[in-house]
Order: sequence, then C-alpha cells, then structure tokens
Amino acid sequence: MSPTAYANDQFLRACLRQPTDHTPVWLMRQAGRYLPEYNATRARAGSFMGLATSPDFATEVTLQPLDRYPLDAAILFSDILTVPDAMGLGLSFAAGEGPRFAKTVREEADVAALQVPDLDKLRYVFDAVASIRKALTLPDGRSRVPLIGFSGSPWTLACYMVEGAGSDDYRHVKSLMYRRPDLMHRVLEVNAQAVTAYLNAQIEAGAQAVMVFDSWGGVLADGAFQAFSLAYTRRVVEGLKREHAGQRIPCIVFTKGGGQWLEGIAACGADVVGLDWTTDLGSARTRVGHQVALQGNIDPMVLFGGEAAVRAEVRRTLDRFGAPRAADGQWGGHVLNLGHGLNQHTPPDAVAALVDEAHAYSRRLR
Ligand code: CP3
Repeated sequence: MSPTAYANDQFLRACLRQPTDHTPVWLMRQAGRYLPEYNATRARAGSFMGLATSPDFATEVTLQPLDRYPLDAAILFSDILTVPDAMGLGLSFAAGEGPRFAKTVREEADVAALQVPDLDKLRYVFDAVASIRKALTLPDGRSRVPLIGFSGSPWTLACYMVEGAGSDDYRHVKSLMYRRPDLMHRVLEVNAQAVTAYLNAQIEAGAQAVMVFDSWGGVLADGAFQAFSLAYTRRVVEGLKREHAGQRIPCIVFTKGGGQWLEGIAACGADVVGLDWTTDLGSARTRVGHQVALQGNIDPMVLFGGEAAVRAEVRRTLDRFGAPRAADGQWGGHVLNLGHGLNQHTPPDAVAALVDEAHAYSRRLR
C-alpha cells in the first residue's frame, strides 16, 4: 500500500515536529451535544450507544464538526468505555446521567474473571474507522485530514470499572489500590493488553494517529501516578504499531492534571504530550526540549467568554508556545487543542472564532 496523500497533513506534521504552515487545530469532543446536528443524529439513533455502535451514524457525526469548521484532524466518534463494555461489564448511558456499568470489578473473584476482550466484540469500532476513512477521501483520492483513533488509559478505564460510574472521590478504586495493590496491578495488566490490541486494530483499520486519554491520572498521588498510571500507559505505547501502510503513526498521551509529571510522561515513548490549562506551554516546551510535540491547552470555558476573549486566549496560547521554529532551527511541534473536552453548552460560533484565530494568528508567527 502506498502512503496516503492528504489535502491537509498539518496535524501529522506538527505531531512529528516537522515544518508547518499554520498551527493545526482539533478539539476534544469536537463531535458532541453542543452541535444541533449531532443532537438530531443522536435522536435518530435513539441513544448514545446506538450512535457509537452504528458505523454509518458514527461516520456522520465524526464529519459534522469538519463540515462546519476548517479543523485539521478528525477523531473517531466512539467512547473510551467501549473496552470495559466488551469485557462484559454492561455499559449504559441513562438520559441526563453519566455512564454506568451493570457490573463492577472490586472483589478478588471479579479481578480473576477479568479477561482481554475478544476484539470481535469491538468490530463496530473498526468498521467505523474504515467507514470514516472512506468518507474523508476526496474525489482525487487524497484524504481531507488525518483520522485520530483513541482509547482510555489502563488507569482511567480501571477507574470506571471499579467505581462502576464516574466518581468525585475515587474511593473504591483508590481503596483497591491501597488495600490490594496486587489486584489493582492485575486489572491494569489486563487493561494494558486490551488497550494495546484495541489501538493496534484501529491502526490496522485506518486510524492515522492514536491518542491515549489518561483523564483521571491527575487524581493520583505522586508515586502512585508513576506506578499505577504511567507504567501501564508506557506499556501500551511500547506495544503500538508505529508504522502502517508506509506511514508513521503518531501517538498522543494526555494526562489531565499531569503537568507536574511532564518529563516522565514525555519519556514514555509518545510523540505528543497533551496538556491541560494549568501548565504553561512555554515552560512545558523548555522542559521537554525536542523529545515530543505538545498538544493543548485552552480552558474549554474560555468559549463562554465571547468572541474577543476567545481570540485573545488563542493568541496568548500560541504566544506562550512561542515561535514554532526555535532559535536552533528545529521545529517545536504544537497542536492547538483545549485542555479537556468541549462543554455541551458551548456556543458553536465560539468554536468558529477559535479555529479561525488559531489559523490566522499562527500563520503570522511563521
Ligand atoms: O472527541 C470526540 O469528539 C470523539 C468522541 C469521544 C467521546 N468520548 C464521545 C462522547 C471521545 C474521545 C470520548 C472520550 C471519553 N469518554 C473520555 C476521555 C476524555 C475525557 O473527557 O476525559 C471519558 C472520560 C469518557 C467517558 C464518558 N463518555 C463520560 C464521562 C460521558 C458522559 C459525560 C458527558 O459528557 O455526557 C460519556 C458520553 C459521551 N462520549 C458523549 C460523547 C459525545 C455524550 C453522550 C451523549 O451524546 O449523550
């Protein structure tokens, strides 16, 4: 297979710290409830899982934000919780509530029964990847933009598997970790194997970059983070296919609240480290040197501040990263994103202003 040609490959170039014409932008949760067209498709699908398990619906909603905004990457429409669902824990999304599992993993017997899922149970995800790739192909055969695949990190998945739902205090998962670290390590080991196989299957189906969401790594104590989150994320990264169809597949690791561990995360083997808004991009760039590119890191709530505030914050973020090409001639690699997902009440016009300002202002910095 010959490497894919892109109409816009700025995202992949930034991930690999190659020269870019502008700073590429995509947004976590770019397909979601803030878009009326998403809500309309979701109503037709009947439920969130109805959307996610149908390759046709998943393709439709993946493309919705790209048809509205000149985003530089698409992200597979799915959820991190498909993996524990395939492990037999029974995922549901009740209206107006977060995710919930029918079964939890808290006792020794639950842990002993846990297995890497049969990837066939996740076939709908790989079918969605293939279908989205097709939909992103232009009549001349080039891809509009690259497609990002993703998974939760072993630790973040474990949080949901042990808690059975979202949590404010992570009491159950931290109890298991402190009381029976041996059981916690066994859950994380199974998760790491499952996540590695799941991401590699997405890459084989056509994902052109992958991202590991360690959304709850930042709730861990120093020391526990390295042992229970980062060690397993590293294992996933080490097991990934880094080349497919003659193309390098960049890997992004995002630990929400992980800024103080940046050097450790940057050493896990990823190409890109995602940051939330509590870390300064300029000092982060100094800390990682030329080891990795950076992604982030605007506070999603800035999008409620009106157009002038959005544009000012985009300029400030790009200025904090600094000249894309450093004084030594090497390119830094910055993917502009939020520091966490778009809020469902976000005004769509604010997103348009963010993307426009990022492209316009970052061109002026070159
Ligand atoms: O970014 C994208 O556009 C791709 C799609 C995507 C979704 N979830 C769709 C979704 C991605 C990358 C995720 C990842 C995800 N899911 C994470 C990691 C990132 C993060 O936010 O920290 C986590 C922790 C989850 C778990 C999850 N899924 C929760 C807590 C919820 C409910 C809370 C909420 O925001 O409603 C979901 C549901 C979900 N996943 C929705 C979407 C668009 C909303 C569901 C709906 O339409 O009702």
